[in-house]
Amino acid sequence: MERHISVLLNESISSLKLKENSVIVDATLGYGGHSSNILDRISKGYLFAFDQDSEAIRHSTDRLSKIGTNFTIIKNNFVNMKEELAKLGVTEVDGVLFDLGVSSPQLDDEERGFSYHNDARLDMRMNREQKLSAYEVVNNYSKEDLARIFFKYGEDKFSNNIAKKICEYRVNKPIETTLELVEIIKSAVPMKFRLEKHPARQIFQAIRIEVNKELDVLEPALSQALDLIKVGGRVAVITFHSLEDRIVKNYFKEKTKIDDKVKGMPNIPNEYLPDFKLVENKAIIPSEEEIKNNPRARSSKLRVIERIK
Ligand SMILES: C[S@@+](CC[C@H](N)C(=O)[O-])C[C@H]1O[C@@H](n2cnc3c(N)ncnc32)[C@H](O)[C@@H]1O
Repeated sequence: MERHISVLLNESISSLKLKENSVIVDATLGYGGHSSNILDRISKGYLFAFDQDSEAIRHSTDRLSKIGTNFTIIKNNFVNMKEELAKLGVTEVDGVLFDLGVSSPQLDDEERGFSYHNDARLDMRMNREQKLSAYEVVNNYSKEDLARIFFKYGEDKFSNNIAKKICEYRVNKPIETTLELVEIIKSAVPMKFRLEKHPARQIFQAIRIEVNKELDVLEPALSQALDLIKVGGRVAVITFHSLEDRIVKNYFKEKTKIDDKVKGMPNIPNEYLPDFKLVENKAIIPSEEEIKNNPRARSSKLRVIERIK
């Protein structure tokens, strides 16, 4: 049984325009939903898949091995994609897919401390070998730094008050568990706002983004992916919240912009044309049917860019 339902699966796979001999990078292997679909279609091609989570890799190695042998899994952050591929002698590919964020098994595994519904030690590391965990963030960051990340990555209007309550609490003892943190957050949020949505949702998102440096790695990784694709090759990115989507949207916009000097000219000389074009101007979003079957897909968006020269 697969515990992760892949989001925008058909849309993202078809956007990659796979051929039998395509060479593809899946930057976020996870539980192998997208990768197994890709591998099925590239019997004479090759798949390179990245993930920083050993458990996801263990599961997906088995899953992909049942389909073929034409793949290599690389346990590393996708921000090292270009360097890791270069070590294998790979400098260009036909497509790169990003399906950002965490997988359902990561969220559902109580031990990993991603969920504000289950009690667990504060952790939230995708890469369990890394040092920084939610425990360090919550117990060692200054009040100002906590308020800043809660506001920036959680867009939470009670950021200052939540940071203050955390600092008051930890004077007496460290904050060890997720539910301990949830209670502190609740105490900092007025009752009428607690009913609208779970008061810990945005704060947990913010801590997760900080622990895994999720937004810091995104633009450098996109830049590498764009460098890697051949003419006609595509980069497809699935995001799950507006902070991620804004980075992808703005980066793709910058890369497809027509030089102001020639904008509006009937025949733009080739050297002034951008190297990339957007495959669709608007983000592709899931169908109502998909959202009904998989509520996690609700906020997802797919953006695709193609190299034209
Ligand atoms: C949404 S899941 C991918 C699910 C996958 N597409 C599927 O269909 O099964 C995202 C995965 O990417 C991994 N991940 C997220 N950010 C990463 C990064 N910067 N470097 C490497 N892996 C990352 C996570 O550990 C997680 O397993």
